[in-house]
Order: sequence, then C-alpha cells, then structure tokens
Amino acid sequence: MSETFSARSAPLVLGIETSCDETGIGIVRGTELLANTVASSMEEHVRFGGVIPEIAARAHLEAFLPTLREALETAGIELHEVDAIAVTSGPGLAGALMVGLSAAKGLALAADKPLYGVNHLVAHVGVGLLDPHENPSGGPVEEPSGHRAGNPGAEPEAGPRGMRRLPENTGALLVSGGHTEILRVGSLTSDVELLGSTIDDAAGEAFDKTARLLGLGYPGGPAIDTAAVAGDPHAFRFPRGLTMPKFEGSAQNPGKHRHNWSFSGLKTAVARAVEQFEASGRPVPVADIAASFQEAVVDVITAKAVRASLEHGITTLMLGGGVAANQRLRELLAQRCAAAGLELRIPPVSLCTDNGAMVAALGAQLVAAGVTPSSLQIPADSSQPVQQISV
Ligand code: KG4
Ligand code: ZN
Repeated sequence: MSETFSARSAPLVLGIETSCDETGIGIVRGTELLANTVASSMEEHVRFGGVIPEIAARAHLEAFLPTLREALETAGIELHEVDAIAVTSGPGLAGALMVGLSAAKGLALAADKPLYGVNHLVAHVGVGLLDPHENPSGGPVEEPSGHRAGNPGAEPEAGPRGMRRLPENTGALLVSGGHTEILRVGSLTSDVELLGSTIDDAAGEAFDKTARLLGLGYPGGPAIDTAAVAGDPHAFRFPRGLTMPKFEGSAQNPGKHRHNWSFSGLKTAVARAVEQFEASGRPVPVADIAASFQEAVVDVITAKAVRASLEHGITTLMLGGGVAANQRLRELLAQRCAAAGLELRIPPVSLCTDNGAMVAALGAQLVAAGVTPSSLQIPADSSQPVQQISV
C-alpha cells in the first residue's frame, strides 16, 4: 500500500460488505452518510443455531442486486457517479467474502472505477468518522457518536483534504459474533495495531452458544440480554478467562495473554451448571444463569479493554460489533471508561453491526489519503490481519 494515488476531497464511495450474514451496501460522500442498506440472512440460520457459510454465501448472491439498487436509490445517485468502490476483502467467511468481492470487481470493471479491498475490522472503526446524520432509510435521527462518556470535548479533527479524522490515541473495542478485539488506531489509513483478541470463541458466539444451552434460541445475544433483566448477576460466579496472574503478568512484565480473552471455559461452566440442575430434576434458573453469564462476559471484556487502553496511551475508545447492543456492556463500559478518564464513543446500533457504510467510510478515507487502489486480482482473505488495512 502506498500513498501516491491522486487524493480527492470528499470522495463519493460505494461500500460493499458480505463477510458474514449481512449483505450491506453503503454510500458516503467524504464523511457524509448517504445510504446504508442491509439485507440479513439471519432468519435462514435460526434453525441451525449459528451462521452456515454455504447458506450465507447463497443469500448474498440473491440479495446483492436488490440491496445495491435500494442503496443507489436512497442516495439519489447512479453507479457511474461514484469515485471508487470499496469492498471487504477479509477477514470473514471465505465463500461469503467471495460473493461481495466478485460483485465489486464486476462493478469496478463495468463502471471503470478504482477498487479498494479493505479490512473488515478497520472498517468497523471507520464508521466513527461519519457525520451525525438523519437515518437515510427514513428512521429517527441518529448520532454516530451515539453515546459518550469521559471527555466529551475531543471532536474528530480535520484531516487531509478537509476529511475528518479520528482523535489522536483512538482505540477500538470490537465485539461481535465473529470477533472480540482491541485495537490501537494511530491512523485509519496507515497505522492499526492489534493489542488483544479472543483465543477461542468470539463474545457473541459465547452468547449464542449459551442461549442454546438455556433453550433461548438464536441469535442468543438479544435473548440473554432480555432474560438477564429478571436474573441475579451474582447468583453464579462463572469464570473470567485468562485473568490468572500467569496469563496477565504486570504492566512492566506483561504475560502472554494480558490483553487476550477466552470464553470457552465460561461456556463449559454454564453447561455444567445446567446439567446439575437437570440431573437433580430441579428447574434450570434461566434468568439467574443468563444474568451471571452476561456479567462474566461483560466484566472481563471491559476490564481488559480499559486496561489495554490505559497501557497503550489510548484516550478515546470506540465500541463496535453486534454485542455493542448489549445494555449491560454499555453500562459497565461507560462506568469503567469514566473512572479511567477515557472518552467512550458508541455509534448507533445500525452502524455497530456489519454494514456497507463502514466499508464506504474507510474507502473514502483511503481515497482522500491518496492510497493506491487494489488490483482486480485480489483474493478473499478469510484471516486478513488487521495491520493490512487495504490490499
Ligand atoms: O456484528 P454482528 O451483527 O455480526 C457478526 O457477528 O459479524 O454481531 C452479531 C452478534 C451475535 O452473536 C449476537 O448474538 C450478538 O451480536 N448480539 C448481542 C446482542 N445483540 C446482538 N449480544 C449480546 N447482547 C445483545 N443485546
Ligand atoms: Zn463485524
């Protein structure tokens, strides 16, 4: 990646996202959001209790053109007007990524537009740059910085060619069905570092698996969030993974997993608890288990994210991913960020979950920074590292 391509102010960019079960097409002009159209195949995965890659890929194929047409119509533009096409090249499900990538290449070739294959995780951070807007789908007014705590004075500053850029020392906590990561973002277009991640299940995956154990259905996150309201979060003391001193070490001498998470032991502990109730013929206390499980996840996510931020000079933390909808996560993260003097930014849920607007937002930053476009030969990279912002 080099920064020699002719830079352009407020570029009009179409963004395509197909890394999991959402077909997302977004359109931005610079940092202005013009359209964010999403079709989800979630319903088709419900009976399997999780996303089935083959089904997701086929659903992207079916949803692609209608979603594209709707986005162009909402934005009031035609394809030939865009300055560039951005698409998630990874990480994600290989077959699902390939559908979006093939479509993006076809559009780029047909309309003679530059193509940018971008990193899905970095795109989650890119939404943080979008201007406060009226929901282009006609819904209520939304604020990209939908929730703030800590130091609310730090606005995104003007970057190259008048584009807003992230505040200095930004970090991102991404929590979804596919990822649990904490990033340090020096520059959205050239400097992203992975500080920590899950070593097994993603947090959302743990919610989904636990909900299945409790008979709460799929997707499990919203079901547990709701069930937990009536439960006691201290009824069970479930494990907080990778918090033992041998894993964490100290700030001066960090252990291997100081900033990493693990949720597989937690899932097993919940399974054991459920089994014990069932074996003794007692009713399973679903609300108490849901609340205690949720507390364990949220406690360890927020504690490690805040500590990693403080130890890496982060002063503004952005939350992203589908689990950002979780009420208890928002509440505890806000409390702990405020106590640590960190500014917290939580975009509206429609921009936290997977969508095309985030891909377009990152694409616009890359165009404005003059980054060289991708070749039409780029492959889908299901494990694209976060440092590889565009390919
Ligand atoms: O970002 P997302 O829409 O898709 C990907 O995983 O890429 O996130 C979906 C995940 C699912 O695991 C779902 O259970 C979880 O986000 N989720 C929640 C909540 N709403 C969605 N987890 C906890 N609490 C919620 N309210
Ligand atoms: Zn995602």
